[in-house]
Parts: sequence; structure tokens; C-alpha cells
Amino acid sequence: MAYETILLEDHDSVLLIRLNRPESLNAINKKMLSELCSVLSSADKDTKVRVVVLTGTDKFFAAGADIKEMEKKDSVEMFLEDFFTEEHDIISSFRKPLIAAVSGYALGGGCELAMMCDIILSSDTAKFGQPEINLGVMAGIGGTQRLPRAVGKSKAMDMHLSGRYMDAHEAERVGLVSRVMPEKELELGALDLARKISEKSLLTILAIKEAIKLSEQTNMSTGILFERRKFHSLFGKEDQKEGMAAFIEKRSPKFMDK
Ligand code: HXC
Repeated sequence: MAYETILLEDHDSVLLIRLNRPESLNAINKKMLSELCSVLSSADKDTKVRVVVLTGTDKFFAAGADIKEMEKKDSVEMFLEDFFTEEHDIISSFRKPLIAAVSGYALGGGCELAMMCDIILSSDTAKFGQPEINLGVMAGIGGTQRLPRAVGKSKAMDMHLSGRYMDAHEAERVGLVSRVMPEKELELGALDLARKISEKSLLTILAIKEAIKLSEQTNMSTGILFERRKFHSLFGKEDQKEGMAAFIEKRSPKFMDK
């Protein structure tokens, strides 16, 4: 199926989604989010896809929600339409690993979209920011909740209130991104990481993601109990027997997702 605002690349077990509205620096409009949601919903069910990489171009991941699309809207319309709520929920409940490969601008909704992913890999030219305050608005798709959890209250307040950008090295230092790579190596680096993850047992991948996502929402004892029950349940799977036998026999495991 052809999409208007995104491009898809099939890398065997890894699906790469490229945001593709270069004329507006990948500004995120309704169409783009709806196409992204449609692809993610299919990828969740598609047994061939194990990991998804979301990226833009060298110069921009996404420069925010589409200001031209939002400009004329009033608060009643935004509320009744429940702007971006459904899309937020679909993206953030995607069950497989979602890796953001960010180069250039990741601003406003672009930064929020990257933070909805499970891992952010950054090129050395990436710039993260929540500059909505300069438009007389604020973040609306998770930025005031995910940024403080990622970088702490003080830096999150600083970024949201001043609108300043954070460069890749600061982002890595404070834990917003997991690794920084040279711009030209980012995409291959992201695909390489995705491939490495895709070789693990899907049952384990899904259990780990579920447990870590829960840590964003629950207290320590509930989270640890959930983790322990997941851990126990993995001992009922063939992949646990295979993984541990392979270690003892000094060979690579062959996971069957069973
Ligand atoms: C619509 C955008 C856009 C955006 C850039 N463009 N960002 N269009 N929405 N978010 C368009 C410009 O209008 C311009 O179109 C073209 O892309 C190139 O942009 P320039 O500004 O000419 O490029 P440059 O000088 O290189 O500056 C890059 C930039 C700047 C610093 C990233 O574009 C910028 O500040 N963009 C807005 C960033 C922002 O405020 N994001 C938050 C949006 S609100 P023309 O037609 O003139 O060529 C948001 C809310 C999220 O994200 C909550 C959701 C519910």
C-alpha cells in the first residue's frame, strides 16, 4: 500500500518507517499520524516484523506538529476531535520494540514522537526541543510527562519553559537518548541494533518491553512483582530451554518463539 506521508522499507524482520514530508521538515499532520498508526497496527500483527525503526532525514526527524494545520482550530474543535489522543494511544501501545533514529530537528511533537519510542538513537547533529511555548501553546502529546521522566524535572522545565534545544551530547549525557552516532552511520546503526534485537525470542522481547513500560506507570513493588511473574512464566517456554541449553553447550541459540 502506498502512503502519502511516510515511506516503508522492508529489511526482513525489521521494518523501517521514514517520515516523509520534506517540504515542511516532516511536520506531523493528521494524515501522517494516521498512516503511521495504520502501519504500526499491521506491524503488531505481522509475525514477520519483529522490530520497527522510525526515522526521518539527516536534517530533520520532525519539526513538530503541523502548525499550519492547527493554526485555525479553536479549543472546542480540538477537544471534540480529541486531537491526537487516539493516535497517541495506538503508538504508545505498540507491543514490539520501536527504535527512533533521530538526526537534525526533533522538536515539539517530533520530540514527543521520539519519546514515545522505546529507544532513541541520535546522530551527532540531532537537536531536541519543546518550543511550543514560542507559539503560545504547550506540548500536547506526552512531552510534559515523558521529558521529566527521561531527563529530570529541572531540565524538562528548562526546555519547556525556555523553548531551548538540547544537542545530541547533552541528550545522551542526561539519558534522553541511548547512543550518539555520526550522522552518516545513524541509519545503519539503527538497523544493526534492530536486527540484533530481532534475533532474540519474540516472547522475551515482548515481556521485557511490557515490564519496562509498566515501570513508567506503577510503583516499585507492583512493577517488581509483575517482572517476577513474567520471569517465572518464561520458564514455561521452549525458548528458555533452548537459550540456557545453548549457553551450556557453547553454541548460538535458535529461538522458535515458543
Ligand atoms: C508546519 C513547518 C513546521 C511545523 C517547519 N515548517 N516546521 N510547517 N509546522 N512545525 C515549514 C516552514 O513553514 C517552511 O515552510 C519549511 O517547513 C522550512 O522551514 P524553515 O523555518 O524555513 O526552516 P529553517 O529556517 O531551517 O528552520 C527550521 C526550524 C523552524 C528551526 C525547525 O522551521 C521551526 O522553528 N519550526 C517550528 C518548530 C516548532 O515550533 N515546533 C513545535 C510545533 S507545535 P515554507 O512553506 O515557508 O517553505 C507542536 C505541538 C505538539 O509540535 C502537540 C501536538 C498535539
